[in-house]
Amino acid sequence: MKILQTILLIVCSIIITDGLKILSVFSYCAHSHYTLGYRLSKELADRGHEVTYVNCYPNQQQVKNLKEISVAAVKKPLTEWTAQLKDFGELSYLSQLEWIKNLGNFYTSKVFQTKGVKDLMNSNEEFDLVLLEHFVNDAMTIFHHRFKCPLVFLVPVPPATLNNYLVGNEAPPSFVPNLLTDFDPKMTFWQRLQNTYLYYAGELFVHFRLLPDQNSLLKEHFPDAPDLSTILYNASMVLSLSHSSLSDPVPLQPNTKPIAGYHVSPTKPLPKDIKKFLDEAEDGVVLFSMGSNLKSANFEPKKRKAILQAFSKIKQKVLWKFETDLPEKPNNVMIMDWLPQADVLAHPNVVAFISHGGLLGTIEAVHHGVPIFGIPVFWDQMKNIEDATRKGFAVRLDLKHLDEESFDKTLNEILDNPSYRKNAKERSKVMQDQPVHQLDEAVFWIEYVVRHNGAPHLKSVAATLPWYKRYSVDIIAFISLNIGVILLFIRFVVKLLKGGKPGNKLKKK
Ligand SMILES: *[C@@H]1O[C@H](CO)[C@@H](O)[C@H](O)[C@H]1NC(C)=O
Repeated sequence: MKILQTILLIVCSIIITDGLKILSVFSYCAHSHYTLGYRLSKELADRGHEVTYVNCYPNQQQVKNLKEISVAAVKKPLTEWTAQLKDFGELSYLSQLEWIKNLGNFYTSKVFQTKGVKDLMNSNEEFDLVLLEHFVNDAMTIFHHRFKCPLVFLVPVPPATLNNYLVGNEAPPSFVPNLLTDFDPKMTFWQRLQNTYLYYAGELFVHFRLLPDQNSLLKEHFPDAPDLSTILYNASMVLSLSHSSLSDPVPLQPNTKPIAGYHVSPTKPLPKDIKKFLDEAEDGVVLFSMGSNLKSANFEPKKRKAILQAFSKIKQKVLWKFETDLPEKPNNVMIMDWLPQADVLAHPNVVAFISHGGLLGTIEAVHHGVPIFGIPVFWDQMKNIEDATRKGFAVRLDLKHLDEESFDKTLNEILDNPSYRKNAKERSKVMQDQPVHQLDEAVFWIEYVVRHNGAPHLKSVAATLPWYKRYSVDIIAFISLNIGVILLFIRFVVKLLKGGKPGNKLKKK
């Protein structure tokens, strides 16, 4: 009996010391963001941590140890706001940044106004760690300040201008192409010139536009809050949605961990109708999905017709995520308003993925080794597809150039040229060949940060240096001044040796 009691006690104490209270905030109302947050929050809950998950699509599943706080009220106003997305591609670089910044201001402020978040801030809850999705919402770092605990960011894009400042990651413009270019890292002189402009314009934008806006937002909603810089740069770690299988290597601080691929779950059985369609496709299946932001039904009728024409000419079947009816579709096309994308990509008969190049879909395609036919529309999608094209597992067709001829040509290229599939398989091996699964790694670092009280030993001072120190402007000024003085002195001595007082010449004139 005594032994049983002791064992029980030990087991209990392990559970109690191991179970952390984690506040997980993924408050941007888009399904991909919810997915990223849910996968990680659920894993933490499954491992015995008590997770409070702030998100926009609550109560989809009951999970033990996982409590949800809804910000669903933000969804409608945000959808209305983002309806202006259509002509994004036509904007200049700075206007694109401005647009993203305003989007961030808009939804961050809306999230702060939700009842759930207000109640949370006024509660006497305690947390051991805040896991915050970073997406133009810097003011939300207030959560970790409020609960006096370490902060870990999950950044839903690869390292870039709009997140590098968090922990002082550097992106030297000489070999790190800007997110909004389609440059190879081996840039020509003119590309480097343009890249350098984008780099400095981006840096200036972050420090003189973006962060000041977030700071005023913070002050507006939490008048007692300290200055944004004191809490923003206090973060312990960045979990970044990047991976060597997806993009080119860049320098990273030791507290930035690339974990792209963590959200891809072990493959689940497919719904019966989809399974039958895929199983019976002897010549293979093309999966077509433009993500949740751009509805397939929004394709102009002319483009839609061109696509259907092209599909009617191939021997492969097509599974199209299409939200409305499509009466004129050819026989080899099946439409579904929802489908388990990653599980479909895992089916051996899927031979190509037509996609807008969203990061999650791209990661899933790489994970399962499926080549991509990219039709990028927005922001990082161009870069995702461009990287994939350069690595030989994708072809690209821009929406504005889409007609029957171009769609036909691109589709045949990806289906008939076996190199794309071969390269996709190779990339897939790279993504899956690692010491631990990305999900285990993410959980490890989150627990690590708590074990080491914020892990200050991994933090670089780079994030907090003022610009003139960071870019050694003061040092360069000092050296230039010295060289100037020395040159003047040499000139003085030379004139002296040539005979006559220096300045004689001047007098003669
Ligand atoms: C900075 O982070 C630590 C944990 O790493 C936390 O205890 C502290 O409250 C944070 N500081 C501020 C000003 O929020």
